[in-house]
Amino acid sequence: MNDPTTTLTVTPEDVVAFVDQWQDTLQPEAVVWCDGSTRERHELIQLMQDQGTIEPLNAELRPYSFVARSEPTDVARVESRTFVCSVDPEDAGPTNNWVAPDEMKNTLLDLSEGAMRGRTMYVVPFSMGPIDSPMARYGVQITDSPYVVVSLHLMVRVSNTVLQNITAGASWVKCVHTVGAPLAEGEEDVAWPCNDTKYISHFPETREIWSFGSAYGGNALLPKKAFALRIASAMARDEGWMAEHMLLVRLTSPEGKRYHMVAAFPSACGKTNFAMMQPVLDGWSVETLGDDIAWLAIGDDGRLRAINPEAGFFGVAPGTSHKTNPVAMDTLWGHTMFTNVAVTQEGDVWWEGMTKEVPEGLTNWRGEPHDPHSGHRAAHPNARFTVSVDQCPSLAADWDNPEGVPIDAIIFGGRRSDTVPLVVEARDWDHGVYLGSTIASEQTAAAEGTIGVLRRDPFAMLPFAGYHMGDYMKHWLGMGERLRSQGRVPRIFQVNWFQKDEDGRFIWPGFGDNIRVVKWMIERIEGQHSANDTALGLTPHPEDLDIDGAELSEEALAGLLRVDPDLARADLNAADEFLSTFGDKLPEAIRAQLQAAHSRLD
Ligand code: GTP
Ligand code: MN
Ligand code: MN
Repeated sequence: MNDPTTTLTVTPEDVVAFVDQWQDTLQPEAVVWCDGSTRERHELIQLMQDQGTIEPLNAELRPYSFVARSEPTDVARVESRTFVCSVDPEDAGPTNNWVAPDEMKNTLLDLSEGAMRGRTMYVVPFSMGPIDSPMARYGVQITDSPYVVVSLHLMVRVSNTVLQNITAGASWVKCVHTVGAPLAEGEEDVAWPCNDTKYISHFPETREIWSFGSAYGGNALLPKKAFALRIASAMARDEGWMAEHMLLVRLTSPEGKRYHMVAAFPSACGKTNFAMMQPVLDGWSVETLGDDIAWLAIGDDGRLRAINPEAGFFGVAPGTSHKTNPVAMDTLWGHTMFTNVAVTQEGDVWWEGMTKEVPEGLTNWRGEPHDPHSGHRAAHPNARFTVSVDQCPSLAADWDNPEGVPIDAIIFGGRRSDTVPLVVEARDWDHGVYLGSTIASEQTAAAEGTIGVLRRDPFAMLPFAGYHMGDYMKHWLGMGERLRSQGRVPRIFQVNWFQKDEDGRFIWPGFGDNIRVVKWMIERIEGQHSANDTALGLTPHPEDLDIDGAELSEEALAGLLRVDPDLARADLNAADEFLSTFGDKLPEAIRAQLQAAHSRLD
């Protein structure tokens, strides 16, 4: 950790001015400039151990890995406290909370006065994307949470080179974060400082993020959802690219042909699992490039190209096992920060779904002895692991290629017990944009809200679009137009791994078996199969889907591919009602798709 004015040959004046100004307001005890070094990480980890924020796991079982336990009130993204403060409320749209920027800044400046008293303010320069990629964007986050700094080390590229490039004129996003828990003289700190009052505020016009009161991932690791999705989506609209809640993978067929796909599923609906898939079909392989966020732009070759702006995984722990996601389990061998998981007697981690048997003598996510008969879970349902991508055995060797990879297909999906077939292919780009705009999912623990309730989550971006969702659809339609005129248009598909039978069990085996669906997509791209033209889109002839060796009957497969007209009609009406909330901003092309969908069903 060092002062950039002594180690850099040039001084990033506006970063220094930004830090000075916030130092005056927040009044920290000390200011530390971070450089992303291993030494810096070791020092912070030691500090957090001393303060009780993190607890080391058994080094023989899980080397250099730690458990953090958050405040029970600070366990997920808080969408009700997340604001898009555009100058014009119309630009935030009906899907975001809006407060005028001046009003929000006044509120937050009042709260921020002395908010870092007794704490250290860390200044963290970072790059989203390979530092010298034309698609990379820079930021600087100030924070008073060592947990956040260490998480940033694992999640993004923290480097002084960023400050050098900013000095040379590169633009950057200003990220301000405080847990909002000042310490009085001599007051003892708690393990997880935070504040009951929380604000995660975005100022798209000035490219600023101000986050107050939470230390939880999505609220506090500002490069992730706040920057790489909310602010970046606004930058992308202005600059002609796309910032999406998407995994990024390379698939190689038995013939050795490579394909790249992105997939947008709402939080806790299978992106990380898909990104690390171990295909059950012989000869196929999946390489991981990203598991949560993709930035896409049209390259000189006229193709849609994608990069992963992050450098780590912040994955959902529950449900992750050697059976469902062996690659994730291998990735987590060590050097991992776990949050809100359970701890075994031996000092290793455990969560629901890791093993069938619940081990004896667990300590639950609140740090108390776990009573297996209590009906309570040992790990929080939104327990997470934070780990660098470098540890992922399926990581593509060229994952940080500054040019990105050319995209062959875009997949949308959600968690639906019924109504939505296993897979549907869009008729064309515009129909695909329509499918993306109508995505709905049964709610999970990744955000506040009632679990299981269906909510519309267009493009899996409902909580992340930094501007009006109607304009967002328009931007997608415009990208399609440019791709049509300049190059090649990727295919668009919709999937649903989550249909259930009468007993509430998933019908489709999922996970590594999902390659069967991907294989069909690739065979469609290669022109090998015709498809059923249904009211919802193009579905496979059951015999074209390779279910050789799958634990699935032919009847069950037919059921998974069937379109039930009554359910489809009810869903279309719900989608129609949702889309009507965008009023005049709903693009004409989407209106036309809705009309066409109605007439197909009638
Ligand atoms: P965020 O990181 O919050 O954006 O979520 P995500 O989309 O990465 O979700 P993730 O891959 O972590 O999966 C969330 C949950 O869905 C886990 O409990 C998984 O076990 C489960 N899941 C993932 N893929 C499948 C699948 O193909 N079938 C079934 N039944 N469950 C799945
Ligand atoms: Mn996510
Ligand atoms: Mn994930």
